Order: sequence, then structure tokens, then C-alpha cells
Amino acid sequence: MSQDIYLTGITTTGTPHIGNYVGAIRPGIAASKDKSKKNFYFLADYHALAKAEDPERINRSTLEIAAAWLALGLDTENAVFYRQSDIEEIPHLTWILSSVTAKGLMNRAHSYKAVVQANEESGNRDPDKGIMMALYCYPILMAADILMFKSTKVPVGRDQKQHVEMTRDIAQRFNHRYGDIFTIPEAAISDSTAVLAGLDGRKMSKSYNNIIPLFADEKSLRKLIMKIKTNSLEPGEPKDTAGSTLYDMYKAFATEEEVKNIEKRYAEGIAWGEMKQVLFEYINEHIKPARDEYQRLVDDPAIVEKKLLKGAEKAREISVPYLDEIRYAVGIRKLG
Ligand code: TRP
Repeated sequence: MSQDIYLTGITTTGTPHIGNYVGAIRPGIAASKDKSKKNFYFLADYHALAKAEDPERINRSTLEIAAAWLALGLDTENAVFYRQSDIEEIPHLTWILSSVTAKGLMNRAHSYKAVVQANEESGNRDPDKGIMMALYCYPILMAADILMFKSTKVPVGRDQKQHVEMTRDIAQRFNHRYGDIFTIPEAAISDSTAVLAGLDGRKMSKSYNNIIPLFADEKSLRKLIMKIKTNSLEPGEPKDTAGSTLYDMYKAFATEEEVKNIEKRYAEGIAWGEMKQVLFEYINEHIKPARDEYQRLVDDPAIVEKKLLKGAEKAREISVPYLDEIRYAVGIRKLG
């Protein structure tokens, strides 16, 4: 068996938040240091475009996400870290793949169907209202990301599993027609990574407006943690850890022993205000060193830019010759 190749894309919308950190950034950074694995990490800025983001926000988000991963210690020697739009071969491959992608397959994408359903529910006569081709073809671009680097494993959340399955479909159809060109990847879904709730108790997500930015300054971090929803139990009344956002968040950062201790304090009836203070101090201490480095990088984007270009150079050592091979296979060739 040849070595597994892992590839992870991060859409450049929004500011990195604590939920991203616990769910994707922290495990991703740990994996980047594993010398036995080949890892690709990239900023999916063309995917951000499909979400109709404001240009300034796409740009800012790209900087913030890159700075966050770097500040937290992503191993860019061992792993390849790049920006999607620097790899010109990806949009080329997207077009080639769209020639073997059935429209019917795209019709079935959950991400597209969700918007159609929302249109229907709000009584729109046109079910495709507001839907751009970039959203509709989003899975083809994602397939190009994955196939371009011969990935075998794609660590994604459950919501992205279908996209990886579509990638397999597309690659298989291509191989059937043109020969054995693509590696067939599979989704690597980890159920053990935590999904954190946000301020209001729903999943922490930019679209719910309930996030805690990972690198919020100390004052804002404290203020946000104080806003986390709790029940109305009084100090001294025993409290349940199940369903407590404060507890889950603490658990996502603290050691097993510390968690046990907090469980005891819940049973003893720790006041919510005090628990919030404990949580704030814990997260603040944990994040502080990286926060300073993050700030340094965000204030000097040229450092980040340089890192990304270096990563792109490494990535293109693969994508440039591979695209030639793919083009040749489909009949896009030099004439003598
Ligand atoms: N669509 C993914 C998301 O929204 C991001 C992404 C883009 C991606 N291309 C990818 C993830 C390739 C894994 C592999 O989370």
C-alpha cells in the first residue's frame, strides 16, 4: 500500500472561532506534525466566492484563517499549506471534470437542494431564485481540489460527506472513460471531534451569529463568555453537566483531571457566574501565546503572503505536470 494523502480545505468566509478551533484547526495542526503522513491544507477562496461574500471580507478572512493556522503552529515544512486560487491548475481541472459530471448528480447535492427548499418554502415561483452556477457547481470545484493532489483521505465534517462521494463518482466516471488517471478518495469522518455550541446553545456557526472568535482580545473574550446561555439555577443548587455549554467548552480545552474536578463543582452547585470566570481564565491562558503571534501576522500580512506562495510552489510541483497528463488523456494535446 502506498502512503495515505490527506487533504483539507477551509472556506475563507468569516473569522476563525472556537468551534472551528476545536473541530478542525486543532486536530488538523496535530496531524500536520505527523511525519508518517502526507498532508495538504488549503484556503478555499474560490469556494468562498460561491457564497457571495463581500470582496473585502473574503480577503480579510483569508488573512485571518491563514494567520490562525500559522500562529497555532501548523507545520508548513511537513505539510503543504497553500491558497486554492494560487493553484491555477484547479479551475482548469474543474472545467475538465464538468465534462464528465452529470447535471443530475449536481441536482442531488444537499447544499443546492437546501436553497431550493428554502425558496419553495418561502413561496417563490422560481425554485432556483438567487442560485448562481458557482453554488450549483461547488462540488465539482471541490472534486478538483481533492483529485488534483491524488488525495486518498479527506477529513471533513458530516455535512461534506456527500461532496466527497460525488468526487468519487466523478473520478470513477472519468477513469472509466479515459483510463486510470485519478485516485479514488474517501471521506475521513471523525465522530470523536467535538462540535461546540455557541452563545445561544445552538451549534457555533457564523450563520447563527453565536460565535466566539478564537482570537478575540481578552476583554471581548470575557464579555462573550459571560453571555453564554445557562439555565436559571441559583448558586448552591446542583447542576447538570449534560447540556451545559459552559461545561462542554471547558471540556474541549481542559485535561481529564480538571474536567473531573469541574464535574464535582457542578454537583456542589457552582454559580454560573463563577463557572464563566473559570472558563474565561482557562481559555484565555490557553490561547494567549498564539493570540500574540496571530496579531503579529495579521498586522504584517506580507509574512503570511510569502508563506502561502511558498506553499503554492510546493503544491504546483504536483499540479502542473499532473494537469498536463490529464489534458493529454482527454485529447488536449500539442499538435506535433
Ligand atoms: N466545502 C468545504 C467546506 O465548506 C471546504 C472545502 C473546499 C474542502 N474544498 C475542499 C474540504 C476539499 C475538503 C476537501 O467545509
